[in-house]
Amino acid sequence: KTTVWSIQQIDQDTAKISVEEAAQMLKKQEVVAFPTETVYGLGADATNEAAVNKIFQAKGRPSDNPLIVHVATKQQMEEFVTHIPPLAETLITAFMPGPLTIILPSNGKIAANVVAGLDTVGLRIPDHPVALALIQVCHLPLAAPSANRSGRPSPTTAAHVLHDLDGKIAGVLDAGQTGVGVESTVVDCTGDLPMILRPGGVTRQQLEKVIGDVMVDPALAKKNEKPKSPGMKYTHYAPEAPLWLVDGSVNFIQNLINENNKEGLQVGVLASDELACQVTADVVRACGSRADLKQVAIHLYDALRSFSSTNVDIIICETFIEEGIGEAIMNRLQKAATKKLTQ
Ligand code: TXA
Ligand code: MG
Repeated sequence: KTTVWSIQQIDQDTAKISVEEAAQMLKKQEVVAFPTETVYGLGADATNEAAVNKIFQAKGRPSDNPLIVHVATKQQMEEFVTHIPPLAETLITAFMPGPLTIILPSNGKIAANVVAGLDTVGLRIPDHPVALALIQVCHLPLAAPSANRSGRPSPTTAAHVLHDLDGKIAGVLDAGQTGVGVESTVVDCTGDLPMILRPGGVTRQQLEKVIGDVMVDPALAKKNEKPKSPGMKYTHYAPEAPLWLVDGSVNFIQNLINENNKEGLQVGVLASDELACQVTADVVRACGSRADLKQVAIHLYDALRSFSSTNVDIIICETFIEEGIGEAIMNRLQKAATKKLTQ
């Protein structure tokens, strides 16, 4: 049975008791989901292999994918790394607490299954009062991937967590919807130059203002390759129905909807506010204005998940400009898509 603690305000007595109870469970090697400013995480004691194993089991996560370790302070971070290079110091000062994860050389104190056998560790200080209180009260570094079943969109509400993991985890601290909506930016700080491994809540522009040129993992650049790889199955961030990522005009998209309707398929559309009011389909979900991609990021995963309570056979999704948080949005949509079409 999964315990659900509802937290309105962190400074209320009931909230303190909830955090205390959740911390006790973590100390007993249980796994507990908690809110961060990006998405909900599924936490366990990062120094305890058996506890961490429960995360992989609950999520159905492949064991070769390392987990991020959440700490409350820079001092706590220092306990788990050989050293903090100057570049990382600058990033910590500028962006932490916040939606940034830095990869640093591990000193071996974090459990081997957290880092998937690597000699590096991903660390972040979440900017959420409940997450910070939890880490402080249990006095542990918390290994925490997003609290979804592996392959599904990350959870931005406790309801999403329960949909995927109810009965499989000890508890969830429910503090409502998360703020950023997409995961942290992962930056490798172990080389001479910083390299973005995953775009996220801190944008490339924000990073470059502080540390100058930032490299991007060449594997990410493939996203710009020409469309249509129907055979290629991506399983990350995916809703239940196949998602088609479509770069085209309103007419192009409407024609695509009509053609698939004619073939007897129910069609869902995931779109900006601007497109949503111009197309007709079986289900249309708007996730925010093109002029305000932060809102799109906040609503993206909930919108993707919302199709599972409908009968749609396919989801057609428009593309967004890859600027600012748009880089993270498009990265997730590219990974979720089973098919890409360009007009
Ligand atoms: O916003 C977030 O980062 C959320 C919240 C819960 O903090 N967490 C999250 O965790 O998204 P997860 O496990 O879903 O994604 C972790 C990412 C993966 O892409 C993983 O490969 C990468 O971080 N990562 C973790 N440790 C790494 C390491 N030592 N080297 C390279 N990549 C690493
Ligand atoms: Mg994840």
